Amino acid sequence: MKAEILSILRKSNSYVSGQTLCNRLGVSRTAVWKAVQQLKDEGYEIEAVTNKGYRLVQIPDVLTAVELQSQMLSVSDNAVAPDGGNSAIGSHIEALESVDSTNNYAKKIAENGAQHGTLVIAEQQTGGKGRRGRSWVSPKGSGIWMSYILRPQMYPDRASMLTLAAAMATAAGIRKALEAHNLSALCQIKWPNDIVLNGRKIVGILTEMSAEPDCVNYVVVGIGINVNITNFPEELQKTATSLLLETGVSFLRSSIVVDISGYFKQYYHIFMKTHDFSALAEEYNAMLVNCGREVMIDEKNGQLTGTAEGIDAFGRLLVRTASGETKQIIAGEVSVRGMYGYV
Ligand code: BTN
Repeated sequence: MKAEILSILRKSNSYVSGQTLCNRLGVSRTAVWKAVQQLKDEGYEIEAVTNKGYRLVQIPDVLTAVELQSQMLSVSDNAVAPDGGNSAIGSHIEALESVDSTNNYAKKIAENGAQHGTLVIAEQQTGGKGRRGRSWVSPKGSGIWMSYILRPQMYPDRASMLTLAAAMATAAGIRKALEAHNLSALCQIKWPNDIVLNGRKIVGILTEMSAEPDCVNYVVVGIGINVNITNFPEELQKTATSLLLETGVSFLRSSIVVDISGYFKQYYHIFMKTHDFSALAEEYNAMLVNCGREVMIDEKNGQLTGTAEGIDAFGRLLVRTASGETKQIIAGEVSVRGMYGYV
């Protein structure tokens, strides 16, 4: 009920009477009053004026299921899947205070049948995981540490493209947040799935999968976003940054999560029509920091340098070498760097 109250208050520009809330929710005035008191205890500033009703003044920077669901309810059509069912990305939310890794938690509940689209999100990770066995710094309350559980009916060799779709959704969500604050910081994708702000990393994505040779059981797409972090360990200081460090602005994390979930739903839907990137490659390439740049690829058998030309319909990075040959680089098998730095 708290999510519905917040959603109604959010949609209204002025006061909503207690009676209107009772009628809309089919509950008593006391029940509404109690829910409003609980919301106030959780940090919401809700003004109550006799004969006028309630007005939402300020929301706290929290990543609770109530906050995320109420925002999703306010964004028309976001909470409902294209098929009219309840399987939209982010339609079911598990919000945790602290967990070792949202990816680990998501895998555990996926093994026990958690539904497609479930979002696991935590205020803090005590054992956040990065790619290649690295750890991911995930301090309390200053970032977005979340994992989506997906159950796509497709061949497992297509799954790496889900990570590309997640990167597009994340970049789009961050760009929207920057625009809302009239900020011009440049948010781009570094192939395959890092996101950089002004050339430094603010997002990492770790995708894990359970599959059989011809079908996917589930995919967990874990996304880490450095939102309001101000201190990184020394070894990360040259490459890592946060939205706050780059812009000087503290962002409300919940609306970024809701926007990313909305974009991810759209990109996922387009991807699932063909199980490839034919309809998305152009938009992805427009977000790509590597396009037209010299890159260095660390392969198993040595290094390759060339000019990145963007991705193809299967998400492979096309790199033109000095000899004029175009190589197709497959994500997961290589690491890509700029010739003169991280990008
Ligand atoms: C990378 O190395 O770039 C990938 C980092 C992925 C971090 C996210 S945070 C949420 C999810 N849970 C984890 O343990 N890792 C991912």
